[in-house]
Amino acid sequence: MKTLWLDTIDSTNSEALRRLPELEGGTVLAAREQTAGRGQRGNTWFTEPGKNLTFSIVLKNLSLSAPEAIRLNYLTSVAVASFLEAKGVKADIKWPNDIYVRGRKICGMLLENTLGPGGQLLASVIGIGININQKEFPQLANATSLTLCTGLEYGLEEALEEFLGIFDRLLPRLLSEELFAAYSERLYRKGVPARYHDLLTDREYQGVIEGVEPDGRLHIRNLDGGDYYYRFKEVSYLL
Ligand code: BTN
Repeated sequence: MKTLWLDTIDSTNSEALRRLPELEGGTVLAAREQTAGRGQRGNTWFTEPGKNLTFSIVLKNLSLSAPEAIRLNYLTSVAVASFLEAKGVKADIKWPNDIYVRGRKICGMLLENTLGPGGQLLASVIGIGININQKEFPQLANATSLTLCTGLEYGLEEALEEFLGIFDRLLPRLLSEELFAAYSERLYRKGVPARYHDLLTDREYQGVIEGVEPDGRLHIRNLDGGDYYYRFKEVSYLL
């Protein structure tokens, strides 16, 4: 993998998408500062300049179908969790792909795929924001960082190289059962009764996360009986 560090950019995902035709697969664009970082559901991703990892990995020619592209979410989530675990921090994966430590969000990711006419995946831009050295999150009640978890400071370039080493080692196992198991076993709130909001019916209920289906749907068992299977944006977690 080849990393290009940029001092300031609007968003590493936007830059990677603009430069997609010319960028080779395996290129990583990392920014010391993002001025318009993008999050899930059209949200903005704010981080203090120079404190955190904000980067995008460009992958091409993976020979994946569109339904198989979900595996890239699993791989990236497991790679981030493994990176944090290597620093002594136990991480959970909040479905579909937020990374939490002790109930607080430490990392978010935004995967943007380009599909060909036959539905095959042509390229994927995997945008990842990992909070590393930031100590205060004034606008975010529920965020944390590696430094808040360990009390240590980290070099961003070294941290990125370590992460990319883990990602690269997992890549050949993209479609393996082993990778899916590694994702499933780290699921946040798995087996723990908690409250959920079903956005399809606008009902709240007490349920237990049973796991994730191979196609990516989240399986929650309602404590009153009944199994529910959700796609992204169909359910939210209540505190
Ligand atoms: C989320 O949890 O809402 C996803 C956040 C994704 C943020 C990363 S930071 C690097 C890359 N560039 C962006 O503009 N977004 C992603």
